[in-house]
Amino acid sequence: MPPPRKIIIDTDPGQDDAVAILLALASPKEIKVLGITCVAGNVPLDLTSKNARIVCELAAKPDVKVHAGCDRPLGRDLVTAEHVHGKTGLDGPTLPEPQMPLQEAHAVDFIMETLRNEPPGTVTLCALGPLTNIATAFERAPEIRERVAEIILMGGGYFEGGNITPAAEFNIYVDPQAADIVFRSGVPIVVMPLDVTHKALVTKKRNDAFRALGTSVGVAVAEMTDFFERFDKEKYGSAGAPLHDPCVTAYLLQPDLFTGRHINVEIETQSELTMGMTVADWWGVTNRRPNATFMGDIDADGFFALLTERLGRL
Ligand code: BDR
Ligand code: CA
Repeated sequence: MPPPRKIIIDTDPGQDDAVAILLALASPKEIKVLGITCVAGNVPLDLTSKNARIVCELAAKPDVKVHAGCDRPLGRDLVTAEHVHGKTGLDGPTLPEPQMPLQEAHAVDFIMETLRNEPPGTVTLCALGPLTNIATAFERAPEIRERVAEIILMGGGYFEGGNITPAAEFNIYVDPQAADIVFRSGVPIVVMPLDVTHKALVTKKRNDAFRALGTSVGVAVAEMTDFFERFDKEKYGSAGAPLHDPCVTAYLLQPDLFTGRHINVEIETQSELTMGMTVADWWGVTNRRPNATFMGDIDADGFFALLTERLGRL
């Protein structure tokens, strides 16, 4: 068996971020979490960096390094999503205040240092929120870009349109400038857009399977999805809440759950109407250079089977 893949999880928890983190922490044979870097997004930075620690403790992994990062987007005011995730960002279960400390180093410094110290091509960045921390690290230390193995990110949408504006998905909309820096970085990118994540729906049966694990993790995950599905069901009339961010960590474990195309993706940063849109050349109608593997489909049953089995290990 190959050694575990080294990753940094950059995140703004968020219930679906929490599930993505739990999936990674449940899979130490395949995934080594070097650290978790928090960014402002779903809720402000003080809450995302607290929530990340709550999740590590829920997984009984209090030794994971959690770093706080950028508290606002590069060039715009912060937009948050309490209307989806609740006031704390992690509404649903009642979980204890975290005891584990936040690391002293800023998330951006941690990302730069880790990429400088680890052998080139061995660290994957898993981005579950606005891309502010990663873009800032690339701006401050451009030489680290070629040391990144891959960026796997949740963001954007093409056929599905947007979820925060008609054109834009939340993570990209919050910091389009950062997304633009990342998509132009030359680093290999895998994108899990709304086109995929809106098919990863927590139906009642799938939620019951989490709860039936009977563990504190299983019950907490069921309660988290119970909470944010109210919003999604109402908004999309769908069968349950989309589990966006766990698509990123599931891809590390079972990439064949996903299919997509290697295409050119550019970010709208000028027009207020379509700000943060991921302009994806799905049909190859330009000769712009492909810079990302943009996923379009998921084996949702396979994804939930993997997720439930792994969460059961915690
Ligand atoms: C993304 O935005 C956040 O609300 C979720 O955590 C996910 O990362 C979905 O658009
Ligand atoms: Ca997120």
